[in-house]
Amino acid sequence: MIETGKIWMNGKLVPFKDAKVHVLTHALHYSTSIFEGIRCYDTPNGSAVFRLPEHVDRLFKSAKLYSMKMEYTKKEISDAILQTIKASGLKEAYIRPLAYYGYGTMGLTPTTNKVDMSIACWEWKMGESKAGKFSGSKCKVSSWVKIDSRSQPMQAKAASNYANAALARMEALENGYDEAIMLNSQGKVAEGSAENIFIIKDDIIQTPPLSAGGLDGITRDSIIQIIEENNGFVIERDLERDDLYTADEIFMTGTAAEVKSVTQIDKVKIGTGKMGSATRAIQKSYADVVMSKDERFLQWLTFI
Ligand SMILES: Cc1ncc(COP(=O)(O)O)c(C=O)c1O
Repeated sequence: MIETGKIWMNGKLVPFKDAKVHVLTHALHYSTSIFEGIRCYDTPNGSAVFRLPEHVDRLFKSAKLYSMKMEYTKKEISDAILQTIKASGLKEAYIRPLAYYGYGTMGLTPTTNKVDMSIACWEWKMGESKAGKFSGSKCKVSSWVKIDSRSQPMQAKAASNYANAALARMEALENGYDEAIMLNSQGKVAEGSAENIFIIKDDIIQTPPLSAGGLDGITRDSIIQIIEENNGFVIERDLERDDLYTADEIFMTGTAAEVKSVTQIDKVKIGTGKMGSATRAIQKSYADVVMSKDERFLQWLTFI
C-alpha cells in the first residue's frame, strides 16, 4: 500500500498512518461493517468519479439492512469522498468508504455502539486488476457455496459477505486460477468472488438475475444500460454450470474488475480460448464511458 494523502475519519482528514481503530471495535470481532468500492478516473476532461450517487445510495441501503444509524447525510458523504480524493492529489483512484459499528460495549449486539465512518483512497489506474487478467482470466467454479439471503441480506455490500468470497478467491488462486465463480445453494451461477458475470451464447448476452445471489453491481447495471443504448439487450436468467462451459464468451464486471474476459473455467476452454469480439467491444464501450468519451453517459461522472 502506497500511503498517499489523508483518510477521512468521522468528519476529519487525518494522516494516512494515523487512521487507526481500537482492537475492541465491534466490526473487527463480528463483521458488522458495510462499505463501497468506487473509482475515480483521469479522463481527458479532468478527474471524475464514476456513478458517485449510485454508490452512496447503495452504501445507505447496506446501512439500513444492518440497522446502522449513519451520522452523516448522503450529501455529506458525497462531499467527503470528493474532499478525500482532492486531499490525496491523485488523479486516478480507488475509493473505499466504510461504515462500521465501533468501539463501545463488547458483545454481539452492535446497536448500542456508535457507527463510525471512514473514507480512504489510493492510486488505481484504469485496467489494473488485482484478480486476474483483463484479457483472459482463468476461473475455477468454487467448492464453496455462495451464501444466500436466508442467512444474510445479500443486497448489502457488507464485510460479512466477503469471508465466503475470500475463501473462494483463495481456493481459486491456490489451484492456479485467477478468480472464482460461485454457485448458489441451488447450483445456479451467482457471481465471481467480487464481480458479476455475463455469458454470450449465439450472440445473446445473458446474466443471472439478482435473485441468484449476486450483488446488485453498479458496473453490471452500467453494462446493461450501455448495451441497451447501443440497441442491444441482455437477458436475465438462471445459469447452470453447463451454460458456463458451453458459452461462446464470458466476461465479468465490477468497479475493480471493470470488464474482464474469462477464457477458461475449470479445465474447459471458453469459446476459442481467447477474448471474444463482443467482450472486446463491451470493454471498449465501458472504457469510453468512464473516460468521458461517450456524451450519452456524461451524467454518470462527477468531475472533481
Ligand atoms: C461480490 C461482488 N459482486 C459484484 C461486484 C460488482 O459490483 P460493482 O460493479 O458495483 O463494483 C462486487 C464489487 O464490489 C462484489 O464485491
